[in-house]
Amino acid sequence: MTHFTARAHTNIALLKYWGKADTTLMLPTTTSISLTLDEFYTDTTVWFDAALVADDVMLDDEVMTGKGYDKVTRFLDLVRDMAGETRYAHVHSANHVPTAAGLASSASAFAALAGAASRAAGLALSPAELSRLARRGSGSASRSIFGGFAQWDRGHDDLTSVAKPLVETIDWPIQLLTVIINDQPKKIDSRGGMQHAKATSPFYDDWVNRSNALVPVMQTAIANHDIDQIGQLAEANALQMHATNATAQPAFNYLTDSSWQVINLATRLREQGISVYATMDAGPNVKLISRPADTEVITAALAEAIPGVVVRTATPGPSIKIVEG
Ligand code: DP6
Repeated sequence: MTHFTARAHTNIALLKYWGKADTTLMLPTTTSISLTLDEFYTDTTVWFDAALVADDVMLDDEVMTGKGYDKVTRFLDLVRDMAGETRYAHVHSANHVPTAAGLASSASAFAALAGAASRAAGLALSPAELSRLARRGSGSASRSIFGGFAQWDRGHDDLTSVAKPLVETIDWPIQLLTVIINDQPKKIDSRGGMQHAKATSPFYDDWVNRSNALVPVMQTAIANHDIDQIGQLAEANALQMHATNATAQPAFNYLTDSSWQVINLATRLREQGISVYATMDAGPNVKLISRPADTEVITAALAEAIPGVVVRTATPGPSIKIVEG
């Protein structure tokens, strides 16, 4: 019973994935580009055990049940099929992604699970194969196999829908300030939200076309270390993604008044010459793309606008690591 442990870091999309062309293979409608984060990650240990009569899944020392458990066992079935493995598995996972921070933990969770489970089942997958496998658990997990900036090509089948590193080591100053907003609206998960937007928003096709057209522009901005261009593209792309939700039928919304306060604050700070841009995912928290040198002035402005607000700094992070034992 060889144990394998994988550590995968979460990532935030600068050009978003919001909708699937194929829900079984998890093929997206858009190519997305992300930044992997150093501070937030998941550690997962997997070993297969002939004595088990069902998969045993623990998350942060609690037995996992329900929908989350079903997603994990379905994912393990994929790994078992690939490896000819018939035994059930122990999966022990620890999330170092504060749930209150509203950062997607499914990206790091399924990337770490893909890494540990495939090795425990005797598979030696390449990073690209690992990315394709992780994609089947959660689309954004395909990008968490890689460090730095990663691009998930939407592709047209299981083989071609895969992430790749754009720049793994980032030696210039860029960070994400995560602004934690507690006024949580009713929770609609990203899987349900993106399907509903795709099915009902009259702007959905426009979102897809605009987002895909931004891919080469974002690549150039990254190659040029151009934080203003990266930020402008990311903020516009995020707002357009949220516009598909606002125009869905019925409409829904992840952003709260506090989210908008932060987005508007970024606009005001830019008028003062500070490079700060907002990106938002399937929740009310706002991530601010900025330079580390501007942290103090940005956090001071946030504290004045929203007294007591909590801000977490996140810097570029590494690719997945897998260790035995
Ligand atoms: C808004 O990867 O969580 O964070 O593939 O259905 O598991 P599933 O969805 P998920 O969606 C992430 C959506 C997003 C944008 C992004 O990360 O690209």
